[in-house]
Amino acid sequence: MKRVFSGVKPTGHLTLGNYLGAMRQWAEVDQHRSDALFCVVDLHALTVDHDPARVRRLSRQAATLLLAAGLDPELCTVFVQSHVDEHARLSYVLECVATDGEMRRMIQYKEKAARERERGGSVRLSLLTYPVLMAADILAYGADEVPVGDDQAQHVELTRDLAVRFNQRYGHTFVVPRATVPAVAARVMNLQEPASKMGKSDDVGPGIVYLLDEPDVVRKKVMRAVTDSGQDVVYDREGRPGVSNLLEILAACTNGNPADLSGVYESYGALKKDTAEAVVELLRPVQARHKELCADPAYVEEVLRRGAEKARAMARPTVDAAYRAIGLLPAAETGAVTGAVVSAAG
Ligand code: TRP
Repeated sequence: MKRVFSGVKPTGHLTLGNYLGAMRQWAEVDQHRSDALFCVVDLHALTVDHDPARVRRLSRQAATLLLAAGLDPELCTVFVQSHVDEHARLSYVLECVATDGEMRRMIQYKEKAARERERGGSVRLSLLTYPVLMAADILAYGADEVPVGDDQAQHVELTRDLAVRFNQRYGHTFVVPRATVPAVAARVMNLQEPASKMGKSDDVGPGIVYLLDEPDVVRKKVMRAVTDSGQDVVYDREGRPGVSNLLEILAACTNGNPADLSGVYESYGALKKDTAEAVVELLRPVQARHKELCADPAYVEEVLRRGAEKARAMARPTVDAAYRAIGLLPAAETGAVTGAVVSAAG
């Protein structure tokens, strides 16, 4: 069976964009047709200015929402990255295969570092090495497929390069993965700035619908979405990004088709109203399940404990093999006969 790995970074509250663009596909498709791991990648949340208590809170919330969205621990592995040491262990080894030039060429690094410097802040070294840790996340599990948004495609490309390079230099160790674009997922844009993606890290924005927004908040945000000049409802991503985004959201919520839906509406108001209700209905069961899970934190903790245990068992042999291949001396097992080592050292 194919192995699939993906991760969510606990740097903000999860959004409708995360759900329609990724999580729903993980729950409805990936966990059923593959051996899938879904990871709350908390180590990645430390690459920019962060508040420890907030990261902790968001990590727990992200894990709970993954389960609320329908990931079933009987079908897939849900866990927290920092619970499994293999990620950090492998990351260091991969740093010895990657080059600094490669890291500095990463678009996301260049953008984030520039933004940070503009604000007069300093850039954490981990922001530069982040893609190597991401490569370790993927390679540790021998993942074949990595469902991610196109903003992560370059990082998966780097992961492939590192896997191939390591295999050539030190012997075949890693599966070379590929990025996959979710088949049914929508690319949800910010309701206030339909040219940019509805990302969670932008934080409090009137154009972002969070998965845990109350129905009335959802309605207000959708009703206030920017539309385009013009009156008629047409589906045209370039020319009419605002209206097209609403059509796509409505289509994704109702399993419809945005072009077909555009013919149904005479006014922006009617489209907004139906879109708002569709989003409210889409989120209702996720929010209800989230509430149940929050009432039972011991259950969530147990799922994460078992997830980390399973993940560790999967990653361990590959990371050990990488250590041996690159020339690190294996540690003797406790209780094993060490006479040979002692006499050789003498
Ligand atoms: N970098 C990804 C993001 O910002 C999160 C991530 C970390 C990830 N490790 C991963 C995604 C491994 C897929 C596979 O969204």
